[in-house]
Formats: sequence, structure tokens, C-alpha cells
Amino acid sequence: MDQFIIHGGQKLEGEISISGAKNSALPILCASLLNGTSNIIHNIPQLRDIQTIKKLLISLGCKWERDDKTVYLDSTNISTMQAPYDLVKTMRASVLVLGPLAARFGYARLSLPGGCAIGARPINLHLDALRKMGAEITLSSGYVEVKVKKLKGARIYLDIPTVTGTENIMMAAVLADGETVIENAAMEPEITDLANVLVKMGAKIKGQGTDSMIIKGVKTLRGFKHTVIPDRIEAGTFLIAGVITKGKVVLRNADPAQLYALIGKLRNAGANIKINKELITISANDKLRCVDIKTLPYPGFATDMQAQFMALMAVSDGLCVITETIFENRFMHVSELCRMGANIRIEGAHAIVTGVKKLSGAPVMATDLRASACLVLAGLVAEGETRIQRVYHIDRGYVRIEEKLRALGADIIRAKSAH
Ligand code: EPZ
Repeated sequence: MDQFIIHGGQKLEGEISISGAKNSALPILCASLLNGTSNIIHNIPQLRDIQTIKKLLISLGCKWERDDKTVYLDSTNISTMQAPYDLVKTMRASVLVLGPLAARFGYARLSLPGGCAIGARPINLHLDALRKMGAEITLSSGYVEVKVKKLKGARIYLDIPTVTGTENIMMAAVLADGETVIENAAMEPEITDLANVLVKMGAKIKGQGTDSMIIKGVKTLRGFKHTVIPDRIEAGTFLIAGVITKGKVVLRNADPAQLYALIGKLRNAGANIKINKELITISANDKLRCVDIKTLPYPGFATDMQAQFMALMAVSDGLCVITETIFENRFMHVSELCRMGANIRIEGAHAIVTGVKKLSGAPVMATDLRASACLVLAGLVAEGETRIQRVYHIDRGYVRIEEKLRALGADIIRAKSAH
């Protein structure tokens, strides 16, 4: 397994280009199952999770070619509708094949995704919606089976605006008989990106990007060409890298409209942020101030940015409360930050952070994707050497992060772990 070795204290300066969004590429690649023809998707990031969905889609019968950031995906010959345990267990987003397979074939069998480090993450809302659309759902020996002659449109209210749940329902509804209404739908930019792809295929969708979507089923769908939107979480992570090291970082290809909650909070904390067409520039004259954050569904502050923001608050002035409302166990990074000298106390869903003068480098362990990013950010500013074990977590969501950071002046290398 690989580790990162970081020597903190370097100011990050320069320009980086933001890669395509992982959480947009994954549903769009699964949506390609719907049309039974060939599709071209540009700006696909080179990530472990993309490798995983590639294996899954090929195992179902898809043809997959890749040329740099473009994937040519052909779903003409689907030979099986089963997603096996050994693939699903490595990535929960595999659940995104349920909707398209049920819509096109009336059948899907998926190993139930287990929980993960950040929470139980059930898929009850996905399954309740498919049931309402006429599917028969059976759970046995760790698998979920979806069977239906033909899905029919339904009015679905989501107790929680689940992101992949909304995406599964969208992909189920586009070929269903009649109209589907999704209320309390997720509004993330990745939802709108998927809707744009489905519309390119010939789907009839209204209200994407709002909490209420109306989808009229159609008979068939055609092939599409699409360029995936930029990754707002990678962009946010690099904004924090620039400001935590008191450097000056310019992001190219980022979309500021996706980042208003984070940009607003960074400005309240004292960061200088300039936005023009497709460049975002961040810098900080001196220490930032601690500001409270509360994670919420989009357009609120993204839960996927909580850990990274906490690293910044750990070395800012004052005290703040960080409240995590989306996942029940998304403070795994706190104990590792405290080992680096941070002063953080957890009270239920709240982390009370008192800024300290400095962090000290230490050997730490990555537990999940965004917690790993948090530890990298802390390592960039800590005094001395930080070794982060199990960086395969970070490779799931960031394209060669150590190379991008080194290009900005960070002292970070990837090395084989001693054990
Ligand atoms: C998506 O996960 C993202 N993954 C996550 O990003 C992100 O953290 C999350 O949305 C929230 O924004 C992808 O898009 C591939 P949810 P998802 O369903 O869809 C509960 C990353 O770092 N819930 O919106 O799985 C659930 O337990 C990853 O890239 C149910 O109870 O998240 C959670 O508490 C991590 N029943 C809350 O809703 C359900 O049926 C939000 O989950 C579905 C969800």
C-alpha cells in the first residue's frame, strides 16, 4: 500500500486545472446502460472509482474504450443484469446500475452495498421508489433483486434528498410508462449534469436542479456525447490548500457557481477570493478567523468539504462549531488531527474546534476519501514530517493529488508503505 510523506511549511503558489467530477461521471457512465448503443463521454477523471465502475459495466456486457479523458461506452450487448459482491463492496456507487437495468430490462440483481466508514448508508429510499414504480423487490443472502414487467410512473416524495437515490429514480423514470414526479429531490450540480445527459438521449425532464422534478417516460433513448462538469470537491480542496498554506492558488476550469457556500465561508474567515470567467484565485494575508459551518444538502455547505474545512479551522484564530447533518459518523479525521496537535472536541453531531498556533507532523491513517484529503491539508501546514498511510482512499476521488500539489510547491511524495 502507498503512503504520502509530507514536509509542511511550503506556501502553495500557481495555477491548477480541475478534473472532471467523479460524482457526475459515475451516474452518467451508468446511464449509458439505458440506450443500448454507443456513447462518448469527455472529461472523465482518472480515478480508482472510475476503474471500479468500468469493471462493473464490462462485467454486465458493455464495451469500454478510453482515450485519455474520453470514454467510448457501448451498451448494445448486455449479457447479465447482476452486479457481484466483490465489485459492489469496493464502491457503493455501484448501486447506480439498479435504475437503468430495471428500466431497460425489468430486472437487476445487486449485492447490497454495505455501510462504510462514514455511516450505514442504506438504500431504502432507492428501493421504496422502485416499489412505488411497480417493481417487486426481494432481499436475500446479501443481494437485492428488482423484478418488473414494465416500470410505471409514480409520485415519489423522498424523506431525505438522497443524491444517488434521486439519480436512480431519474434513470428508472425515463423509460417508465407515464409520468414520475420526484419531490424533495436532490439539487446537486451532478443531478443537473445527469439530467442534461438524459435529455440528450431524448428523455423528457423538467425541474432538474430544483427539489421537484417531473419526468415523462419515453419509448426509446438514443446515444449521446457529453462533457462532464468539473469536480467541485476537488476545487474546494485546492482552495483550502491555497489558503491554509497562506499562498496564492489559481483554479482553472472550476465553476464558482457550484462553490458559493464554501466561498462565502472562506471569505467570512478572511480569505481573499477573486472570481473571473473560469478562474478562481484565492490568497490570505494572515491567519484566518474560525467560522461555524453546518453541512446541508446542496446548495448548503457540502458534507464532502467538512473534513477539509476542519483542517483549516484547526489552525485559524478563535473557536468554531462544525455540525455534520448528513452522515452519522463523518468525524473519523478528528482523532488523527488531534494527534497532530489540533484542539477539537466532539459533542454528538458537533465538533468544537479551537484554533491552535501550529500543528506538528505525525504518522496518521486515512480512513475515508475526504478524511484523507483533510490529513493532506493538515500535513501541508504542520511543522515537520507527516506520513499518511492507506492513501488508496484518496486515489478514489483525486487525480494524482500529490503531483498537483507538488506543482504548486508542496513538499509531498508518494512512497511504498513499510508494512
Ligand atoms: C452521494 O452519496 C455522494 N456519492 C457522496 O460523496 C456524498 O457525500 C453524498 O452524496 C452526500 O452529498 C456519489 O454521488 C457517488 P445520499 P449518496 O444518498 O448518494 C441517507 C464522496 O466523498 N440515506 O445523499 O450515497 C444516507 O445514509 C462521496 O465522493 C438513507 O437513509 O448519499 C445519508 O445519511 C462520499 N436512505 C444521507 O441519506 C437512502 O436510501 C445522504 O445520503 C439513501 C440515503
